Amino acid sequence: MVLSSPRDSLSGHTPPAAMNVPFFRPSIGEAEIAEVVNCLRSGWLTTGPTTKRFESAFAEAVGGKHAVAVNSCTAALHLAVEALGLSRGQAVLVPTMTFAATAEIVRYQGAVPVLVDCDPQTFNMDLDDAERKIKMLRAGKLPAAETEPLSIVGIIPVHVSGLMMDLDAVNALARRHGLWVVEDAAHAFPAAWRSSESAPWQRCGEGTAAVSCFSFYANKTITTGEGGMAVTDSEELASRMRMMSLHGLSHDAWGRYSGGVSWDYRIVEAGYKYNLTDVAAAIGVHQLARAESMRLERETIARWYLEELVDLEALELPVVLENRLHAWHLFPVRLRLDKLSIDRNAFITHLRAAGVGCSVHWRPLHLHPYYSERFAWPAELFPVASPLWERLVTLPLFPGMRDEERAHVVGAVRDLCRQNHA
Ligand SMILES: Cc1ncc(COP(=O)(O)O)c(C=O)c1O
Repeated sequence: MVLSSPRDSLSGHTPPAAMNVPFFRPSIGEAEIAEVVNCLRSGWLTTGPTTKRFESAFAEAVGGKHAVAVNSCTAALHLAVEALGLSRGQAVLVPTMTFAATAEIVRYQGAVPVLVDCDPQTFNMDLDDAERKIKMLRAGKLPAAETEPLSIVGIIPVHVSGLMMDLDAVNALARRHGLWVVEDAAHAFPAAWRSSESAPWQRCGEGTAAVSCFSFYANKTITTGEGGMAVTDSEELASRMRMMSLHGLSHDAWGRYSGGVSWDYRIVEAGYKYNLTDVAAAIGVHQLARAESMRLERETIARWYLEELVDLEALELPVVLENRLHAWHLFPVRLRLDKLSIDRNAFITHLRAAGVGCSVHWRPLHLHPYYSERFAWPAELFPVASPLWERLVTLPLFPGMRDEERAHVVGAVRDLCRQNHA
């Protein structure tokens, strides 16, 4: 694919009339549509043969032993911490720079998320700050610790945008403090990391955590509309998650109705209704088959953005690390507010007015009412994330983005930086 530079093709960039680039447009092929139609015609709509097929193919794709399909990544994360026995009186390290789901599932279990600051370049959890927060918690110096004594039992790293964390460092910290690791891999499929150029690549989900949780939400790297997958090498965790994903029944509905297993199920726990439908899995099996080609498309666009925006003083661009296979779910840029006469919110307003869909990932958790009021986290405990979030803008990045769409994004961003230079 040859991409012309917007600076070559559009002198001074006069935006084409009414060009509107969405923040995201899902890439749904004919194969997905045909499989959904087949599923509808088959008479089996809920969890069944297509979900089983999707689970096996996904486990193989990431190199994990067991995959449990569920209706969201949030459900996968919840099942994972439930299966690991998370309960009241316990605490879990969670990055403040993440989506609501990563921390709320800790609250579902009555436990406390101990929020951790982020790295200024990757936005991933800062493990030095994680050590600091553990010390503060143990010394009773965290606001969260004032209400009840807490023992810290786990860590939930998030691979922000699909750029994986240094897992040697995560695992070393986990070993030092006897913590389990559950990966929030909502952005990280397909993604991989290695500790050095001579080390083998390890795919996200290939034994990278006790449980790795993926999202198939509408704008994720592969989608089923809504959906998720919990991947683990542990037979015990997999069977607990599978059982809890369907009301805590002794075996699942597919077994119950297909004739292979006795009709006489038993309720062995008070479980949840988290199962994925076959209609959704029908989309998933074909998205999965195209996952690497869609990742390559996103990578091509990301690299092009990096080249086309590199000279702008007002922007800091995402980092690229040699030892990472980046999923490129998101393309977040950091504004250098000292080089601009407008703030981030005005930047977004102008960009949207110019027909560029954009977003922010994220307002950090400690700046949301629930966490700041319930746990009284002061912004000063997060010296990186607190100011960083006011500089964040995420640009559109999706497979199937047309040349003129990416040129329009680059042109609009360049115009905005030039017109509002401080
Ligand atoms: C980092 C992160 N974790 C978890 C989730 C939740 O995913 P789902 O919508 O599949 O529950 C999201 C969704 O955007 C996310 O960005």
